[in-house]
Amino acid sequence: MTRAAGRFVVLAVTGSIAVYKMVELARRLVQSGATVQVVMTKSAAEFVTPLTFQALTHRPVEIEMFSMQDERAAGHVAMGRQADVVVVAPATAHVLARLAHGFSDDLVATTVLATSAPVIVAPAMETHMWQNAATQANVAALRARGVRVIDPETGPLASGDIGPGRLATLERIEAAIEDALGGSEGLAGRSVVVTAGPTLEAIDPVRFISNRSSGKMGYAIAAAARDAGADVILITGPTALIPPAGVRTFAVESADDMKDAILAQLPRADVVIMAAAVADYRPIERATKKMKKKDLGNEMRLRLVENPDLLSAIVATRRPGTIVIGFKAETGDATAEAGRMLRDKKLDLVVANDVADPRSAFGSDDDEVAFVSADGIERLPLLKKTEVARRLVEKLTERLAR
Ligand code: CTP
Repeated sequence: MTRAAGRFVVLAVTGSIAVYKMVELARRLVQSGATVQVVMTKSAAEFVTPLTFQALTHRPVEIEMFSMQDERAAGHVAMGRQADVVVVAPATAHVLARLAHGFSDDLVATTVLATSAPVIVAPAMETHMWQNAATQANVAALRARGVRVIDPETGPLASGDIGPGRLATLERIEAAIEDALGGSEGLAGRSVVVTAGPTLEAIDPVRFISNRSSGKMGYAIAAAARDAGADVILITGPTALIPPAGVRTFAVESADDMKDAILAQLPRADVVIMAAAVADYRPIERATKKMKKKDLGNEMRLRLVENPDLLSAIVATRRPGTIVIGFKAETGDATAEAGRMLRDKKLDLVVANDVADPRSAFGSDDDEVAFVSADGIERLPLLKKTEVARRLVEKLTERLAR
């Protein structure tokens, strides 16, 4: 771990048999130069003594809510405030429920509630408890608030069963900590082209046809890819947004302009993400002078012609290995359409969303999407677009690492 040096890591340990694994995590964090503050629930302390953690971290382990030295300085929230990252591992079903409901009845829950630092939660429990709808709803609620939940692994459990529920490997927990402490560098050295916003198809010098795309999703993806170390090129139709810093931005208007801009970047692109809402049609003729009402009369007919399909053009000219991602917006369940699009257009992934749902409509800051790929359909809860973007970049990083 390289980013942990000099950082304040709160390791919140709760009562599962997997507690012993956290001893090794604490040791590794200390070795990488982090200040590690262990907080335990009382039941965690039944499995491994606080003394073990104390000896490794050279800091007193906190258990009692009001046992901390100076309660006048609001000691019970101090740790959450000081933290660069809070890691709840192992997290029991009970703790997930308490965190999901915002309890503050012990130091672990209070620390999570009081922090503005990233929170990582690594559940560990018996398979049926993990699969129970109540636990899954709690996990979904935490994820929707931006908590990074590291899914447990499948394997033999302490109960003797085999199934999902084993605590994630230390390597996965460490990777999540690295990521939380400054973004992963998973896309370092990669060139990512992102398109965003609507296209604008001129009727005459004054009038145009366009669509309701705000560009927020594409801009968020560009920023997330930049945070992951990529060299990002953002090709954007007209939007009201400020382009993210550290991203090379090209402003275009029409679908044709967008196509030219993409094809110019394509030879060096490792990834192309088509988040733009490209207008499907454009006026056949574009008047060079403003059309006058007196010439048009009381009825105006607009003849449209189909725009080139940019995704098809990209797939046809990409070099082997370039990942191409499309978006499918539908009014209704978009996953079936997305699956068809994935196959027909030979894409690597399609982000499907239902624009009829007002919570994820055009212009909203939130989105409820599904990632559709050869791996299957991964449905995400309603999330901030910035969080959807981060998840997409995570997915991309995994894919490039294969
Ligand atoms: N797209 C494209 N070229 C176009 C139109 C769209 O590359 N001329 C891309 C968009 O950037 C997006 C995806 O295709 O990634 C959307 O697919 P599309 O089949 O056009 O979706 P809809 O417009 O929703 O399809 P339809 O109108 O046929 O329902």
